[in-house]
Amino acid sequence: MSERDLELKSLAEQEIEKHKETVATDPYRLNYHHMPPVGLMNDPNGLIQWRGVYHLFYQWMPFDTTHGAKFWGHYTSENLVNWKHEKIALAPSDTFDRDGVYSGSAISHEGRLYLFYTGNLDGKNGPEQENQCLAVSEDGVTFEKKGVLIETPEGYTAHFRDPKVWKQGDIWYMVVGAQSEDHQGKAVMFSSHDLHNWEHLGTIAGSKEGRNGELGFMWECPDIFELGGKDILMVCPQGLESDGMNYANTYQSGYFAGEMNEHNLQFNHSEFRELDRGFEFYAPQTTVDEKGRRILFGWMGVPEQYEQEHPTIEKHWVHCMTIPRELTWNGEKITQTPVEELSAMRGPVLLHSSVTIENDQKAIRGIQGRSIELNIEIDQLNEMFAIELFQYASLSYKDRILTLSRPHLEERSKTEFRRVGLGEGLRNIRLFIDRSSLEVFVNDGEEVFTSRIFPQPEEEHILFTSLGSTTFSIEKWDLNGYQ
Ligand code: FRU
Repeated sequence: MSERDLELKSLAEQEIEKHKETVATDPYRLNYHHMPPVGLMNDPNGLIQWRGVYHLFYQWMPFDTTHGAKFWGHYTSENLVNWKHEKIALAPSDTFDRDGVYSGSAISHEGRLYLFYTGNLDGKNGPEQENQCLAVSEDGVTFEKKGVLIETPEGYTAHFRDPKVWKQGDIWYMVVGAQSEDHQGKAVMFSSHDLHNWEHLGTIAGSKEGRNGELGFMWECPDIFELGGKDILMVCPQGLESDGMNYANTYQSGYFAGEMNEHNLQFNHSEFRELDRGFEFYAPQTTVDEKGRRILFGWMGVPEQYEQEHPTIEKHWVHCMTIPRELTWNGEKITQTPVEELSAMRGPVLLHSSVTIENDQKAIRGIQGRSIELNIEIDQLNEMFAIELFQYASLSYKDRILTLSRPHLEERSKTEFRRVGLGEGLRNIRLFIDRSSLEVFVNDGEEVFTSRIFPQPEEEHILFTSLGSTTFSIEKWDLNGYQ
C-alpha cells in the first residue's frame, strides 16, 4: 500500500472520529439499515457472498456530504442481519483513480476476492477519463490494487463506468455503463478468459434514436443476470422524461427482461420497467448467494435529487442502503421481497385478525413505532383506504392507484406524490419502517416504494382511514437493530 493510500485512509478514519458524537446524536440515524459512519453514502458495490460471508461495499465520501473522490467502505455479515463495519477497502490514492474509486462489482476466483471498479479522473488535472480497474484480496479485507484493465474504447465519452462481472461457462463477461459520443446511454460488453485481458464485444442494449436517445443520455450501474428463466439487464438510465406515473424521479432505475446471447450481443427484450415507485431508489446491485437466491441492495437516494435537502446533513452524514431483498420472476415481472433472515430482528407479534373501518379514521391499538414491520392483508376494500404515517407521509389506495405522498423536501409547504396503478387491485402491503426510511412492498413485492421520511423524531402514530368499508388483518413487529 502506498504512502498516499495510508494517508487518505487515515484522514478518513480521523473524519469518523471527529464527527462520531454529532452523527450518533442524530434521531434520524437508522436502526437496521447501512449508513455511512460520516459523510455521504451512495451505490452498493462489490456485493458477494464469499467463503460464507456476505460482503457489501459502498460508495463513500468521508470528508463531505456531497459527491466527490469516492472511497469504498465495507460491511460484512454472516447472516444478512448482524453487520460489521470493516476497515476501508479502497481509497482514491493512485494516478488512475485519484478522483474517485467509483462503482463496481466482486467475484470469487481461485480462492481470492476480485473487485472490479472504475478509476475516475475528473479532467481537472489532465484528461477526463474513466478506466476499469482491478483490486484483489486474499483475506477479504485488505485489497491490493492491480491497476487499469480496460481503457474507454473509441466511440464513447468519458462517462464509461460501473463494471459488473460474471461467469458464463468458461468465459468471464463484464458489462459497463456508458455514454456514446452522440450522447446515448449504452450497456457495453467485454469478455475475458483470464480476468486480465479483456476483449471489447460491443453494445448489448442502449438508446438508439438521435442525440440524447429515447432511453436516456447515459446509463449507469448495469447488472446482467438470469432470473426464473429470463435474462435480465438492470440499469439506471439518465435523461428519461417523466411520463404519467412513470419516471417521476430525477434519474431512473429499472430493467429489461428477455433472451440474451452475451457473446454475439443478441438481446430480445421487453420494454424498460421501473424497479421501484418511491422517492429514493437508485443504483441497485445483485448477487447470487450460496442458497442460490438473487439478492439485491439499492441505494436509498437519487443523484442530484434533493440531496442537499436531507436534514441529516447538519449532522455530517447523508443517505443509506435499502434492506436486502430477494428477487424472483413471477412470469411477468421481477418481484422483490425482504430476505427471510430479517425476521430474526422481530420482537413478539401483535396481531389484529379482522379490523373493519367504515367511513372513519382510526388508530389501531399497539400499531405504532418507528422501527417496525407491518403486514397488512386486505380482505375487502370498496372505495378508499389510506395509512397515514407520523403526520408526515401517507399511502393511499383509490381507483386502483396506490399513492405515496410526503412533504416536498425543497418546498416544505407543498406535498409531492409517487403513484402506481394496480390493475388487479390491492391484496397486501408490507411496510418496513426505520426511523427515517420507509420501504413498502405491495402485492407480494410486485411493486415497491422506497423512500426517506423525516417526520418529527418522536412521532410514532399511525392512522388508518377508509371511505366506504375496508376489512383487513394486520400484524406488527418491533424490529431490533443490526448492531
Ligand atoms: C451512480 C454513480 C455511478 C458512479 C458512482 C460514483 O450513483 O454515479 O455511476 O460510479 O455513482 O459515486
